[in-house]
Amino acid sequence: METDQIYDPLYLTENKKNNPKEYFKFIKAHIDGFLQQFNIPRLLDVGCATGEFLYYLNSVYPKAKLAGVDIVPILLKKAQENVPSAKFWYADIHEGTNLLTEKKQYDAVFMSGVHSIFDDYKHSLNHLLNLVDFDNKGRAFIFGIFNPEDVDVLVKVKKINKKENDQWESGWNCFSKKGITNYLRSKGYSSNFNDFHITIDVDKRADNPLRSWTIKLDNGARMIVHGSQIIHHFSLLTIQL
Ligand SMILES: C[S@@+](CC[C@H](N)C(=O)[O-])C[C@H]1O[C@@H](n2cnc3c(N)ncnc32)[C@H](O)[C@@H]1O
Repeated sequence: METDQIYDPLYLTENKKNNPKEYFKFIKAHIDGFLQQFNIPRLLDVGCATGEFLYYLNSVYPKAKLAGVDIVPILLKKAQENVPSAKFWYADIHEGTNLLTEKKQYDAVFMSGVHSIFDDYKHSLNHLLNLVDFDNKGRAFIFGIFNPEDVDVLVKVKKINKKENDQWESGWNCFSKKGITNYLRSKGYSSNFNDFHITIDVDKRADNPLRSWTIKLDNGARMIVHGSQIIHHFSLLTIQL
């Protein structure tokens, strides 16, 4: 089965610069204390798209040295316009291309909404771990969907359009927290998950069933789903030595 992960063109048209995503604020609340130990924190965003998260980091940590990588040149170009002070370049976190010189160069490496693209998370995880200066108390932060059950799930979705050659897309693989924790432990790292509970309603969009929306439960909590009808449990994975 041929699959593809096509970046969402909405990244190019949406301007969330002055309206940061809820999970950006969630990550910030989580890292505030940790970053205080660094005079000039060196921060890298993997799969940075148009640089929205780095724009946000720049506004809340103006002293930080920022960098971003992605595999879509048009997104990197936009990112450079959005955050001129940051360094951006093409790098593939799955293959590990263009990352060798960056080994152990960052106090914090972030990756949001990316690990679920790959059918085997270990390649991207290993490449990402190489970038963190763990000896100087660095950490890696991975935000996205994880399975609270002890099951790894590979997901392929296909939007039904008018075209006959619609592609299967990846991006919603859901790996078990336990499997990832065990893998990291086997490599000598400690890790923990902080679950993200969204506190705003997100409407379903008629034009794109692959954009997530929320469903309010009887107890007031919100469940996040999308067109696959699979519940998305978002969490922030923190990794340290
Ligand atoms: C779902 S978007 C998430 C964007 C952003 N991190 C956020 O949270 O809003 C996934 C991003 O990862 C990028 N990406 C996909 N495969 C990649 C790879 N192998 N290496 C680096 N970036 C990748 C895509 O181009 C896209 O910008």
